[in-house]
Parts: sequence; structure tokens; C-alpha cells
Amino acid sequence: MREGIAPVVRREDYTAPAWWIRSVDLCFELDPAKTLVVNRMRIERNADVQPQALRLHGEDLNLTRVLVDGQSVSFRVENHQLVLDNLPESFELEVRTTCAPEKNTQLSGLYTSGGGFFTQCEAEGFRRITYFLDRPDVMAVYTVTLRADKAKYPVLLSNGNLVEQGEAENGRHWAKWHDPFPKPSYLFALVAANLVCREQRIRSRSGAEHLLQVFVRAGDLEKTEHAMNSLIASVAWDEARFKLPLDLERFMIVAVGDFNMGAMENKGLNIFNTKFVLANPSTATDSDYAGIESVVGHEYFHNWTGNRVTCRDWFQLSLKEGLTVFRDQEFSQDLAGSPSARAVRRIEDVRVLRQHQFPEDAGPMAHPVRPDAYVAIDNFYTTTVYEKGAEVVRMQQTLVGRAGFERGMALYFQRHDGQAVTCDDFVQAIADANPDSELNHRLEQFKRWYAQAGTPRVQARGQFDAEQRRYTLELSQSCPATPGQPQKQPFVIPVAMGLLTPEGRALPLQLEGEDAPQGSERVLVLHEPMQSFTFVGIDAPPVPSLLRGFSAPVVLQDGLGDAELLVLLAHDPDPFNRWEAAQRLSLNRLLHGVQHGAVQLDAPYVDALRAVLCHPELDAAFKELVLTLPGEGYVAEQLEVVDPQRIHAVRESMRLQLAQALHAEWIQAYETHRDNGAYRPDPVSAGRRALANQALAHLCLDAAARHDPVWPGKALQRFKDAGNMTDRLGALSALVGAHHELAEPALYRFHALFKDEPLVIDKWFALQASAPEHEGRVFARVKQLLTHPDFSLRNPNRARSLVSTFCAMNPSAFHRPDGAGYAFWAERVIELNAINPQIGARLARAMDRWRRLAEPYRATAREALQRVASRTDLSAEVREIVSRALEE
Ligand code: TRP
Ligand code: ZN
Repeated sequence: MREGIAPVVRREDYTAPAWWIRSVDLCFELDPAKTLVVNRMRIERNADVQPQALRLHGEDLNLTRVLVDGQSVSFRVENHQLVLDNLPESFELEVRTTCAPEKNTQLSGLYTSGGGFFTQCEAEGFRRITYFLDRPDVMAVYTVTLRADKAKYPVLLSNGNLVEQGEAENGRHWAKWHDPFPKPSYLFALVAANLVCREQRIRSRSGAEHLLQVFVRAGDLEKTEHAMNSLIASVAWDEARFKLPLDLERFMIVAVGDFNMGAMENKGLNIFNTKFVLANPSTATDSDYAGIESVVGHEYFHNWTGNRVTCRDWFQLSLKEGLTVFRDQEFSQDLAGSPSARAVRRIEDVRVLRQHQFPEDAGPMAHPVRPDAYVAIDNFYTTTVYEKGAEVVRMQQTLVGRAGFERGMALYFQRHDGQAVTCDDFVQAIADANPDSELNHRLEQFKRWYAQAGTPRVQARGQFDAEQRRYTLELSQSCPATPGQPQKQPFVIPVAMGLLTPEGRALPLQLEGEDAPQGSERVLVLHEPMQSFTFVGIDAPPVPSLLRGFSAPVVLQDGLGDAELLVLLAHDPDPFNRWEAAQRLSLNRLLHGVQHGAVQLDAPYVDALRAVLCHPELDAAFKELVLTLPGEGYVAEQLEVVDPQRIHAVRESMRLQLAQALHAEWIQAYETHRDNGAYRPDPVSAGRRALANQALAHLCLDAAARHDPVWPGKALQRFKDAGNMTDRLGALSALVGAHHELAEPALYRFHALFKDEPLVIDKWFALQASAPEHEGRVFARVKQLLTHPDFSLRNPNRARSLVSTFCAMNPSAFHRPDGAGYAFWAERVIELNAINPQIGARLARAMDRWRRLAEPYRATAREALQRVASRTDLSAEVREIVSRALEE
């Protein structure tokens, strides 16, 4: 990849492949230093395309033999392609190559980790294993034989079903696998390692039997129960909600410690980052448990949305990712149960979207859900493709209703099972299954959500007419320019809404021209630049509750004042908007503080939060979310010029004021929620722990400011006695967050306790890297930890835990007036660029929003970016990120 400038790939240049590969027979002679791959392919010319040479992709391979129908032929290798001319219409091609898995630090293709062999082929890793048409619209049937040393690699796995296995000479053994489903190369996988597995037999609704297996290293078996339970729940959910059954006799999950992303949906053989498999109460937090549930679900759901129906090309990535994130979100909501537990999940998803996707949409990497061009496709596994893509699917469900969406999904599979298709094909199926829907009526316009980048703004203005007893809601939309898209066309925006009386009662909603009210909640569809909706039979100026449940991924500017927001916080029947009202009240105060240098919290606001904290009926999890102030990054997004230190200072001051003003209530919340019963990861118990830990953090913050030893002492005790990781880490974070002297011995003890648990040591690094800035100490600590014997840049989880946490999640420590944080960033990006460009490029994105920074931050940030950009050894991945960041 390092030769020359990597070309731009454009969506409009798509052409069908000139050749099809119908079946592949792969033989691996596995050896860490030199693995031999014998690849026999059945190839046919695509009769729909002009005859052309065959060009197979290959990267970092040693080519030793090429045979066409058993005969040697002439060939050439150019630009990472094996080129063959003058081929018959149909033939068998045999290609022999070798590669060096132990030298593969990129973790793409075939690599070693913890003494075993693993693969990662999405997006373009298969070409690092053998020469192939490594594009998702070429689907083949795979037969795979693995040979390896039996003592070192007792478990040999690949996709599909095990057909045969046996012993070989020199202590080696072999296994042969066959996957009956044609699949694109990115779904290929193999594993050869010393693993054990948890097994479970299940029977599906149709009566078919399946074997589920979770493979891990020997010591980790007792940490697989939750992953297995999540898998069983996923199978049942997809059958119940979408009538989509498991189509395989055997479904395997394998955990690996070195992995670039969360997990991978290889057909029948999902490979997971250990972080999303391994959990027991003493090593994993509630959010780890929730993450495992959703990632296990996500990869399992890909079996239909991604594998049975796959992407025509990588521009269609959101076809599978947006849809599958939507499905895993729905899964987690359905498992959560109660309406308020569902709302908590929804709030968490929206928080992620706003904290990560909105900034992406406003920065140099902004791109449509279906991008138009890329240099390195790995850079487009983004929160826009995933999370905004999921919102675009969710809006389709909102526009056609839940039953209509299920009909649309059924039609999608009826039409496209076994095919490689586009985002357009998906929306078309949902619309065609719902001919009378708003989606179908405005289909072409709706598709702009896939084509236009940027976060739309929706402005709302209400006018009450006392004489006519009417309330007119005027909605208008606009969308800021993004790179390459100066002008935007209006979107189709579903606005779920209701109206409340000033006392907080829900009003029946009757639009002008309707005979009778139609309930107290409805979905308005904004599709013009500006539209008015007139409600009749309204006696007093109502309080509008708009964009309920976050019905569209937009920024709502409704101009509501404190009085109205307080009504919504106290009474909105939509829990999402209730939370949102609190966020808005908090945000207004944060912004005021940033503008004026300080903020003094007012009684109505504090009283409203107090009422939530002490509410007899609200869930603990919901309370915790309401009492969490918007993050520093989210505050920064609201500002034209960003001074990260100032934002931090104001937010910390608000936290301290809330700690003091609600002191008695925090004690009460802590005492009533800190129960020490047996650990269960369900949403109600997790919510109680979250609120208790939030209370403890505020109590320690307040105590530290008063030099009162009582609460820090209690936190230390809780840290020592905790029966689970959530509470242990919660107590430790409370000490670290308060900069208390007891934090040091506790951190030391934590490391000693968990030195043999890599995922816990990741938490130990991350906690120190995310500590709030205090006299420059965090940066000093991070630099020191870089030389800790447990630290390594080669392990992605470890690199993220220290370096990415510091650079991307700790603004007050990272953004220093002396620019030393940026220099640190540049050094790590350059190091990672050489080891693992995917991880290097992710880290590079920490500087996306540099242009908004106030001086002196901005000037030093530019220098650091230029320092990286000026290197001649940059990978395509890192180069694309830094050059887009520097583009005017
Ligand atoms: N398809 C995977 C998912 O979202 C993503 C993924 C896993 C990936 N590993 C990767 C993407 C490596 C790019 C590179 O479920
Ligand atoms: Zn996915």
C-alpha cells in the first residue's frame, strides 16, 4: 500500500465484474512464519460484460504458482493485481502463495494472536490471504482444508459444516469445512488455535436443531455464559420479530485478544474482540454486559442483513450496517422490557449519535450515509454509516409503522435473498410493501437521507390564536454545507409530537380539516423547506413536545424557554423528551457559563433536578441520565469557537454546585440504591448501580472540595468490598474524579488484583487516561504509562485504552496551551501508521474538529497535523484522514 498515492474510488464508477468465481477450494498449510495457501477456483466469464483480462487482487503475498486447467500459463503482477489474458469462457485456476501471519501487525488478512491463527477479511483483507476477486458482488461456495500442528492448534475452524478431519504426519492434523451458502470473500474466516468451547443445543420454532458454540482460551470458559445467553436470545428474537430463522446447523463465536474492531459476522464463524465476549461479575461492568448483548446480537443479525443479502459494493456499506445496528438496537430495547427501560436504551443510543455522529457530520470527514468516494474503505466504517444509517432505517419504520416495516423486510428478502444489492433496493422494498405510506409517496425525496451529508436543522415556531382557539406550528428545515455539497435539498423529516397544557396535561390533537381529534401524539411529516400545521380546539397557549423519541437525526431549534422546558421535564409522557428537556436546561446553563466565564445555578433548575432525583416512580437508570450533564464534546459542538479548558471548568463547576446543592439527596440516593445483592446484569439492577455510583461521585467531589475525609473513605471501602466490577470501578472513578489522594493506593491495588485480566487492565489504563485534568498531572501520567510494562501499541484494545481515551475522550487534558498533547498525538499516529494503519487512522480522527479551536490551540493543532501529513511513509488510511483535516 505504500507505493505511490492511493487512488480515489468513486461510486459512479461501479461496473459489474467481468468474471465470476463460482466455487473455491482453499488449502492452508499453517505456519506462523510461512503459511502456504493453495487456492483452486472455478471461474466463468460474465456474459453481460465486455470480455476483459482477469485481474485478481492480492497484497503482501508471495506468488509461487499459477495454473489454468492444470497448465502453466503466462501472467503478470501489476498494482497488487495478478493479471491473466486470453482465458477460456470457463476454467479452473490454481494459485499458490505464501504469507507470514506472525508478521501481520495490521490484523487484516491471516494473523497470529495469543499463539493461534485468526483471520479478518472485511473489507479487503481476503486479498492478503490469496489472489481473488475481493469484492462483495462476487459470491462463491467455499471448501476449506486446514492443516496445522495438532498440539499447538488443536481446534481448526472455518465457515459452514465440518465434513472430515484426520491426523497427518509430523504431529500435524487437518480438518475440512464446507459452507453451502455462496458468499463474498469478506465473509471468509478461519481459526486454528488452542481453545475450549461452551456449547448449547437449541431447537428453533420450525423444530430444526442447531449447535451454538463459544470458543475462548482455556481459562476464560467461565466468562462465556452471558455471551451464550445473548446468542440464544438473538436467535429467538430474529425468529419472533422478523421471522428470520438460523439457517446453519452450527453457529460459532470465537474470541480473540487482538482485533481491530468489535466483532465480525463471518458466515457461521463470527470472530469477536474478547471485549465483546468475556464477562463475569468481577471483571465486567454493566456497560460491558450491555455491549456484549448488543454486539452478539449485531453479528448474529448480520446473518440475514449482510450475509444472505449482501452489499453490491462498499459504498452500500450502510445497507448492512445501518440496518443491522437498527436491528440490534431494537433487540436490546425489546429485551429491556418496560417502556421506561426501552426509553433508557433509546436515550443512550441518541447520546452516542449526538456525541460522535453529529461532530463527524460537521467536520472534514462528513460524508453521506452512502458515501460517493473513498481512498481507504476502512476509514468509512463510521458512525455516519452505522448510527446515522440506523436512524435512516428507523425513520422508514416510523413512516410505515412497525407492521408495515416487517412487511417491507419480508419483501426485501423475497426479492433479494442470495444477492448483492444497494441501499436503493432496500428502501424500494420497504416502500413497495407499503403503497399507501408517506414513505412511498415521497420515496425519491426520502432517499436524500442516503445521498446528502450534514445534520439538518429543524426550526419550530408556535403561534396561539386565542380567539380562534387555534395553535399553528410552523416547521422549517435547512442543512449546513458539507465538503463537496454546498447546497442541500429538503429532507423528508418525521416529527413525532404532542402538545401539553401549561399544567402538563396531554392535549387531544385535531388538525384543521379533520373531523375529530386523533389521539394525543402524532407524526408530522416535514418535507418542504417550510410548512405550517394548525391544531384546532386549543384553549390556552400549549407547550409543544417535538421530535419525541428522537424521531429524526436532526438538530431541533424550538426556541422553548425555561418555563416550558420545566413543564416538559416534569410532565412529558414521552420519556425521551423528558430527558431532553433536562439536557436543554443544563446545556443552556453550560453555554451561559462558557460565554460569561462562570455560572451560578438557579433554584428552579436545581429544584427540578432534585424532583427527578427524589421522584418516587422514575427508574434509577432514567434519573442517572437526567442528572448527567451534556458532555464537554457535545457542548463544544454548539460553539463557533471552542476553548476546551473553559468548557471543562464550567462543567466541573456545575457538577460541584449540583453536588453541594443536592447533598442530602445524593446521600439518600446512594443509601437506597447501593444494595449488595447477587449480581445480575438486568436493566433495573444496572440502573440502581449507575445511580448509586453517580451519587458517590458527587459526594466525593463535594467532600474533596471541603477536605472532608468521610465520603472518600467510604468510597475506598466500597472499592475494597465491592462484589462486582461496576461498583468497584464506580468507587475507584469517584476517587480519581475527585483528585483524591486515596485514588493512588486504590489504583495500585486495582492493578495488583487484576494483573492477569487484560480487559480489566484496559480499564485501568483508560481510567487514568480519562481522569479530569488537574495541574497538568493527567498528561504526565499518560506519558509515564506509555512505558509501563503492560502497555503495548500493538494490541488495539490497549492502544485505545490509553492513547485514544486520552486524545479523543479527555478534552481538558489533551488540549493544552503548549500543544504538547497534539505532539503526543502526532507521535502515536506515526507509530501506529507503521504497525496498524486502521488503528492509526482512527486515532488520527481525534483532530477532526481542530479548526474550531480557539488560539493558541488551533495553531499548534495545525502544526501537529502538518507534521504527520508531511511524512512520506503514510498509509492510505492515515493519509486520507490528515489530508481531509487540512483541506481548506
Ligand atoms: N462488519 C463488522 C461489524 O460491524 C465490522 C468489522 C469488523 C470491520 N472488523 C472489521 C470493519 C475490520 C473493517 C475492518 O459487525
Ligand atoms: Zn456490522
